[in-house]
Amino acid sequence: MNFEEHIIDKLQELTGLEREIIAKAVETPPDEKLGDLAFPCFPLAKVMRKAPPVIAQELAKQLSADEYIDRVDAVGGYLNFFYDRRMFISDTIKAAKAAGEEWGQSKIGKGKTVLVEYSSPNIAKPFHIGHLFSTAVGNSLARIYKFLGYDVQSLNHLGDWGTQFGKLISAYKRWGDPKTIEKDPINELLKIYVKFHEEAEKHPELEDEAREYFKKLEDGDAETTELWKYFKDQSLVEFKRVYDMLGVSFDSYNGEAFYSDKMDEVVDILREKGLLTESEGAQVVDLSDMNMPPCIILKSDGATIYATRDIAAALYRHRTYNFDKNIYVVGLPQSLHFRQIFETMKRVGWEWSKDCVHVGFGLVKLPGKNMSTRHGDVVFLEDVLNESIEKTRSIIESNGSKVDDIDDVSKKIGIGAILYTFLKNSREKDIVFSWDTMLDFDGESAPYCMYGYARGKSILRRAEGIDYSNADLSKAVSEDAYTLVKLINGFGDAVVCAAEKNEPFYVNRYVTSLVKAFNKFYNTNPIMRDDVDDETKKARLAIVDATCTVIKSALNLLGIDVVESM
Ligand code: ARG
Repeated sequence: MNFEEHIIDKLQELTGLEREIIAKAVETPPDEKLGDLAFPCFPLAKVMRKAPPVIAQELAKQLSADEYIDRVDAVGGYLNFFYDRRMFISDTIKAAKAAGEEWGQSKIGKGKTVLVEYSSPNIAKPFHIGHLFSTAVGNSLARIYKFLGYDVQSLNHLGDWGTQFGKLISAYKRWGDPKTIEKDPINELLKIYVKFHEEAEKHPELEDEAREYFKKLEDGDAETTELWKYFKDQSLVEFKRVYDMLGVSFDSYNGEAFYSDKMDEVVDILREKGLLTESEGAQVVDLSDMNMPPCIILKSDGATIYATRDIAAALYRHRTYNFDKNIYVVGLPQSLHFRQIFETMKRVGWEWSKDCVHVGFGLVKLPGKNMSTRHGDVVFLEDVLNESIEKTRSIIESNGSKVDDIDDVSKKIGIGAILYTFLKNSREKDIVFSWDTMLDFDGESAPYCMYGYARGKSILRRAEGIDYSNADLSKAVSEDAYTLVKLINGFGDAVVCAAEKNEPFYVNRYVTSLVKAFNKFYNTNPIMRDDVDDETKKARLAIVDATCTVIKSALNLLGIDVVESM
């Protein structure tokens, strides 16, 4: 039973207002004491030619309590509805039980395709903390959309094309050693790349050589292509190690190179539409009327660049997937780039360009180090992940907790702690990493939420043999049970809100509140204690069970795996 719908039905019957108007008007009161749902009578004032407080009084008199509604109060111009708590708890827990892991899911995305492009590191370069931010947000969004029934495609737009590969090939030919590279590919490739730049300062002719190599690569020359492929494969081995640790996977790894033969068409289209103008030898789309610098399409030497590849990629995605939404999870410093390409696409007349969305995020500072994605400083990501896992392990060891598989538990908590931190606040905010906060088992953190789940599971293990499947939930009514069950009921709404705003932090905040309410619940509503009668015990166990399922699902939407005990 949807209590809100029920109240809307009643109000419709009584006022004759359109259903949609009522549905839009009803709201959750700011304070639980004011009821579960409020209806502001202001929209009725005009029609009824009365002051809203008068209308509220009159309507309250006509609205009688029923199975679902305990009472209706008129306060000022508002009607405040109080749900029947027994009914609400029992209805929600039964429905949650019946839905199991599908609780909170919906079908709003049925038949619609959402592309989530995220992570997108650059090959032969370190996977930096900004890419991890993108990976955390993108992976969570992909899971959220799937949960809502969308057909989701996770795309990794690898940075694997551009003149820098000419430089890398030149560097490799001079100083590269496959044996050293295979031991530590990205570090070694980075080393020779840096060396190239140092040497090129002294010997500028190196730049010409690099340009030639890139030209060869663009022309499909076998040897250079072979080398490029080798760099890419080596880099992917490392990236995939990180993705495995995080439990992340992609449906496509089509990077920038994939679009290298699809750009002529884009250039032709732009030219045909009369959008290209010449500027200092380059071909650009002038966007000055939008107060933006021009979008460069062809450089003066005729080479295409990042923006051209992105436009070709968008067109390809449109044709391949006919998407309803094409999301780019990329740091805020690239906002202008996306505004430029989206505007260019709009000018071509691609109506679908309105469905392309840049989902940006802030900068990250690591503890003790002043590192930000903007400066592109190098942080070895695997080191950060491993450090988190190690720190978790020592916390568990010093707590003296007994866990069956400390490797697995430390890994899940350590990685969960990092993902949680990225998804804790609105994504556009900068993040300062602090181990103390991240691994605070009592604070707002992954370990805290995971502990809530493990605690619930341990209660359920102790209750083994008790059949609470037909529990009489009216036995569980209490203030704290009600708060908890209301949260359980609101799971689906939190997920929808996260998808609407492309903000996983709504799910994060949701699960944190749920665990808080759960802790309060089991502290004030003892469950397995001897003095608790059987019926009450069963009713409370049913609530614990439903709570565990929701915590697990919600954490899963953040990319976090639960552990059964910790
Ligand atoms: N490889 C780029 C970088 O590391 C991010 C790519 C973002 N995606 C895109 N479609 N431009 O900065």
